[in-house]
Amino acid sequence: MVDYEVTVYTGDRAYATTVNPVHIKLVGTEGESARTWLSSWVIFRGAVSTYTVSCPKSLGRLVLIELDKRQFRLMFGDAWFPDKVEIKSPERDIYTFPIYCWISDRETHCFREGKALRMFDESNSLGRNARKQELSQRSVDYAWELFSVGLPYIIKADGPTSLPDEVQFSFTKRTEFVFTAMTGLAELRLKGLVDNQENWQNLDDINDVFHYKETPLSNYVQEHWKEDWLFAYQFLNGVNPNMIRRCKTLPNNFPVTEDMVSIPNGSNLSNELKQGNIYLCDFKNLNGMPANTVQGKQQYLTAPLVLLHKRPNDKLMPIAIQLKQTPAEDNPIFLPTDSDNDWLTAKIFVKGANFTEHQLNVHLLRTHLLAEVFAVSLLRNLPMVHPLYKLLIPHTRYTLHINELSRARLTGPTGVFTKFGASGGETLTKFLARSQSLITYRSLCIPDDIADRDLQDLPNFYYRDDGLQLWTIIFKFVQGVIQHYYKSDDEVQRDSELQTWIRDIFEHGFLSQSQSGIPPSFMTVPELTKFTTMVMFTCSCQHAAVNSGQYDYGGWMPNTPTTLQRAPPTKKGTTSKSTILETLPPINVTAQGMASAWLLSQPSSDFVPLGHYPEEHFTEEIPRQLQKDFKAELDELSIKINNRNEGLEIRYTYLDPKNIENSIAI
Ligand code: FE2
Repeated sequence: MVDYEVTVYTGDRAYATTVNPVHIKLVGTEGESARTWLSSWVIFRGAVSTYTVSCPKSLGRLVLIELDKRQFRLMFGDAWFPDKVEIKSPERDIYTFPIYCWISDRETHCFREGKALRMFDESNSLGRNARKQELSQRSVDYAWELFSVGLPYIIKADGPTSLPDEVQFSFTKRTEFVFTAMTGLAELRLKGLVDNQENWQNLDDINDVFHYKETPLSNYVQEHWKEDWLFAYQFLNGVNPNMIRRCKTLPNNFPVTEDMVSIPNGSNLSNELKQGNIYLCDFKNLNGMPANTVQGKQQYLTAPLVLLHKRPNDKLMPIAIQLKQTPAEDNPIFLPTDSDNDWLTAKIFVKGANFTEHQLNVHLLRTHLLAEVFAVSLLRNLPMVHPLYKLLIPHTRYTLHINELSRARLTGPTGVFTKFGASGGETLTKFLARSQSLITYRSLCIPDDIADRDLQDLPNFYYRDDGLQLWTIIFKFVQGVIQHYYKSDDEVQRDSELQTWIRDIFEHGFLSQSQSGIPPSFMTVPELTKFTTMVMFTCSCQHAAVNSGQYDYGGWMPNTPTTLQRAPPTKKGTTSKSTILETLPPINVTAQGMASAWLLSQPSSDFVPLGHYPEEHFTEEIPRQLQKDFKAELDELSIKINNRNEGLEIRYTYLDPKNIENSIAI
């Protein structure tokens, strides 16, 4: 007889303990053990327990283990969360089997040894069959569903609790999320704000919505929201840094003339256009979008154009705003020299348009929905033993659950966005489909995106500065891992699972639109490296940049109105303090918007920062070392960003690696 020393590591998380009997079977190239009871009556959370499995002879090289957990009759079934199993063979070889998932049923679950393998690395039918079986089950567990025509596909599920256990929120995350949501709403109810459909009579009264829910920046925004420089600053470092671009020639439909704008230091508009000091935010994709009806009242949504000038002191300032796309007498170009109320009203309409552009295109579509496509296609096409699975699975944590929740609570028929947003209801899918048709691969890769928007040298653009450094660090890490496993382009082309993965993304995420530039297949190692970098960047950094500031900039409603109740002014000199109050959302809509922004800006206590890999899917030395180097570089960048922030009036913290979550989890 020979003995195998089996050490089981159970996860240290709520409800990971099991009182059900667990059995293991070891499978090697020369045979398999009997199904053997791990002789414990209870396996506690956080426990490291060692057992012996005896066999008549050596099993050769271990390929996989089978685990099952079956309760005795009259015994309650529970869920068990093993982290990994380590096995010392009679030959004194150590094998590690990463698991990191819940086992709550009575089925037999198969787990592969930790060394990453592509399909063509499998030297025996045991491994080949195991990966086929795994993927066949996953294609059932993670099926595609059409969300709406023209939009990326989503996971087929009946709400978050119908998702497989392994992708659901942890107990901690779930409890905290519900608690934050409930306390926010309870506070509003106590104050009688939830049902109050009246307009604000005074902007200062908005302070009563959340007395204690504030951030240093939300307070600062409340104080300075009317100022032009903060209006412009938000196009660089607010929640939507993806709209602004350099403007060398004015668009034909935005006829700003020399005499309209005042340019300091004796320069003029055409000169500044030539010098590259003029920037544009053009919300043309909102053109023609019908606005929602909120509480029986027609709302308004415009498609403005905003012209900005970089002053000699490097500050960016808005110099002209046109609220609709077609120039006309009833579509005046508003200027900072107009009355305070006219100019502020114009800026409020821009903020209203920016809310829709940001939440639907930049945030929901380009991070949440794409990340869902990346996650589902990964789970469907790559087995746990595949190197790309090991690399990317930590960057999919909680994404399917938060998206299912958001479909139920925000964008579903009774969701907050549907009921209270200018672009809720039918506009939502219409605008998303238009945005989807315009997504390009280049716009998802920050170095290309910055080059295409010609923003390389615009000062005080911290989203770009931090984002580009993060891209470089992620790229280096991804390149290290991919080059370790793929020695030639031929290996990339031959990896059938990898090719199915990208094909699935191309078809279900980008609807086979070749003009998007998304590759339908991978031909080279650099192509695979760039695409994987984009996936990791989108699921972590890009989401942090467009998500984390939601309360900072939206906590003071007039800075981010979710909807507008009056039509845009068609003539100068027709606005007043009271038309502004009638334009902004009413009391209950404000309260709902602020509660949602608060909920979506709160990190959970089981937040995993970028580059931290508490689940050790990689067991080999080289990728493990690359992960350590990756984390070290991120730590260094965090120090640099903190030093830079010391000297800033507004600290830009969204892309500090410490604040970036590994995945889209909120
Ligand atoms: Fe988010």
